[in-house]
Amino acid sequence: MLVLGIETSCDDTAAAVVADGRRVLSNVVASQVAVHQEFGGVVPEVASRKHIELLAPAIRRALQEAGADWSDLEGVAVTYGPGLVGALLVGVSTAKAIAYALNIPLIGVNHLEGHIYANFLEQPQLEMPLLGLVVSGGHTDLIYMPEHGKYVLMGSTRDDAAGEAFDKVARVLGLGYPGGPAIERAAQGGNAAAVSLPRAWLEPGSLDFSFSGLKTAVLSYVRRQQQQGEGFSLSDLAASFQQAVVDVLVEKTLEAARRQKVAAVLAAGGVAANRCLRKTLKERGEKEGVRVFFPSLSLCTDNAAMIAAAGYYRLARGERSPLTLNAVPDLELF
Ligand code: KG4
Ligand code: ZN
Repeated sequence: MLVLGIETSCDDTAAAVVADGRRVLSNVVASQVAVHQEFGGVVPEVASRKHIELLAPAIRRALQEAGADWSDLEGVAVTYGPGLVGALLVGVSTAKAIAYALNIPLIGVNHLEGHIYANFLEQPQLEMPLLGLVVSGGHTDLIYMPEHGKYVLMGSTRDDAAGEAFDKVARVLGLGYPGGPAIERAAQGGNAAAVSLPRAWLEPGSLDFSFSGLKTAVLSYVRRQQQQGEGFSLSDLAASFQQAVVDVLVEKTLEAARRQKVAAVLAAGGVAANRCLRKTLKERGEKEGVRVFFPSLSLCTDNAAMIAAAGYYRLARGERSPLTLNAVPDLELF
């Protein structure tokens, strides 16, 4: 079954064709990063306009690269939330038009579910129950999955999302946007034990996260060093910050895995592209007998193949969205 996936929830315009929820025939991502870079972050109105320009060509290219024709498509999956409402609407309207014109089923997909399903593209044999760690620009969630399509929230951030913390700290350090990859680059060769930064474990047993104190600690450190005329090593500070985020993510994820007795953890979202997180969580998981999966780097950040994959499982269960499907900016998964 060939499913066309469409993703426009933030600043990436993406279209993909996926066969049977696992074979990625094409995965086109038209990034808007260059446009938003000069503003230091995503400007919602600019994102919507760019999606309008970029989406139709992206879909045509996705079909072309897949060697598929419109008539080969058997379903359209589209992100309908959470995200920027104007941005989401471009994808949703386009998907509805295609589904109506081709008379094929439409399925709305939750963006977070899409991130999780990026893992099934490469590991379709994974068996439930599983634990998901979604770490993106907007979310930091520990999610228990007893079966396909069922989600139980075990913990989430009380303030900044992990990716947001990377982005904000990168801005303080003058590293630009998006901050995650910039910090990872700056941290290379740095000493992660050089700067002592706090880890917010919160109250005993809590699986929630908090990253705003860490962000403030980085800011205070920079100010203090500057006031004392001492300067600091950018790579040491970036490495120490990255380690502080990774330490908390890894410990809480493994604690959640222990509690639910899952055999495997699926990491997902833009921050799952971070090499320090990938290495640490895999190594620590192995020691505890928990298998840890990460999507390939290109499937961690926003893309439409993951949306087509998540949509495929819903379509295969007979689920359909009506042509009245609307964008839901604060769509919940739970
Ligand atoms: O999933 P995503 O592409 O978009 C959202 O749904 O938010 O995630 C984007 C977030 C940004 O905050 C970005 O800084 C972060 O993921 N990110 C990273 C890395 N690559 C992207 N954070 C840390 N290390 C990375 N290599
Ligand atoms: Zn995302």
